[in-house]
Amino acid sequence: MNICVIGTGYVGLVTGSVFADLGNEVVCVDKIDEKIAMLRRGEMPIYEPGLEEMVARNVADRRLHFSTDIGEGVRRSDVIFICVGTPPKESGEPDMTYIDEAARSIAVSLNQYKVVVNKSTVPVGTGDRVREIIEKNRTRNVEFDVVSNPEFLREGSAISDTLHPDRIVIGAPSQVVAMKILELYAPLERPMLITDVASAEIIKYASNAFLATKISFINSIANICDAAGADVVQVMKGMGYDQRIGAAFLQAGLGYGGSCFPKDSSALIHTADKLGYDFRILKAVVDVNKEQAQRFMDRMETALGTFEGKRIAILGLAFKPNTDDLRDAKSLEMIARLLAAGATVQAYDPIAMDKTREIFPQITYSKNAYDAACGADAVAIVTEWNEFKFLNMERLKEAMQGSILFDGRNIYDPVRMRRLGFDYYCVGRSVKDRC
Ligand code: UDX
Repeated sequence: MNICVIGTGYVGLVTGSVFADLGNEVVCVDKIDEKIAMLRRGEMPIYEPGLEEMVARNVADRRLHFSTDIGEGVRRSDVIFICVGTPPKESGEPDMTYIDEAARSIAVSLNQYKVVVNKSTVPVGTGDRVREIIEKNRTRNVEFDVVSNPEFLREGSAISDTLHPDRIVIGAPSQVVAMKILELYAPLERPMLITDVASAEIIKYASNAFLATKISFINSIANICDAAGADVVQVMKGMGYDQRIGAAFLQAGLGYGGSCFPKDSSALIHTADKLGYDFRILKAVVDVNKEQAQRFMDRMETALGTFEGKRIAILGLAFKPNTDDLRDAKSLEMIARLLAAGATVQAYDPIAMDKTREIFPQITYSKNAYDAACGADAVAIVTEWNEFKFLNMERLKEAMQGSILFDGRNIYDPVRMRRLGFDYYCVGRSVKDRC
């Protein structure tokens, strides 16, 4: 099938590459010249394991192309995927500018029947909005259909999530239209659900909001565990064995960040408000998440006496491991508070340091975790990169000036850390503080 993907962000680039890998002719279009020039040179605008190789393979086989000519991309395709960003506005409402722009570009180049598939995360009703824009702006009386096909990929495992999704949701105006998209996904042999367009749009937000709820829920339980002298890791295991609950997304820590959960929760609250429903549970989820890292920092400040004049090593800057994405990363708010309070920050992250340097040029960037810990009064684990789990902790401690270890992601064994002589603080495992 001939496919055009509009937008070369995480979703667009991964979707385009995977469809090309499955044997389709794909053109990924973007209005940003520099991005397309980079992709044509074989350079990836984002870090995503396995993506560069997959792009190179399909470009070499001439199934995957990159272009700034949206019109040409639309004209040559049977199916057009809209994968543009919907960044949050001040109010939490998603900014629909890029969606509207994409719909207008499709309209003016519509030369024969096409299926327009919305993969961007958009509020319920966007399918109708896109259809109306195309109807209003098309220059020829050509038929088309609009489908919602939400994306559930996670950064860091985007390729494998796209190849092995838990489910594929296709929200279509009719069974016949749904079958066209279903055909594209058939080689993946994964469960598929066909719905109406509005339900598919809500499935995406409801899923992300539910996962965010699990995280804020376990973080609240962790705070209770801290006060009660219990261990949230044990509590989480005990809950997770119940198949109705499941252990996934029950890791207590500093709260969720990234490009999706914070933005999508606010967007769903906003949509609910607009529809006349006060989504109280989700509002609480967002509040708990905002407080979580600050609560941890309060504990850091108490343990250190003051941040002023202290040297703090921050290990992990990306919002989660295996990505260089800093959007809503907990590291940023933590560094900002440390600097404002007069601390010195020495940071290390395997891949997100260049991006962080653009935001905080005034902190020190180290070549590894041990260098970051050099002379530090305290070390804080902010992102649970695998390499931090296997550090030589004796060497880390020797490099430090103090002995305080803040583990914001619960990656170490408290008993072992104390045996090694650390003053060890983690999230929701205060029972072992007394061991
Ligand atoms: C998420 C959804 O998982 C994905 O389906 C959707 O398409 C986009 O949003 P992503 O933001 O890439 O994906 O990362 P994810 O792995 O879901 O983690 C999100 C945040 O939650 C991270 O900050 C992570 O640290 C945090 N998290 C996750 C926890 O704090 N605890 C957990 O148990 C799981």
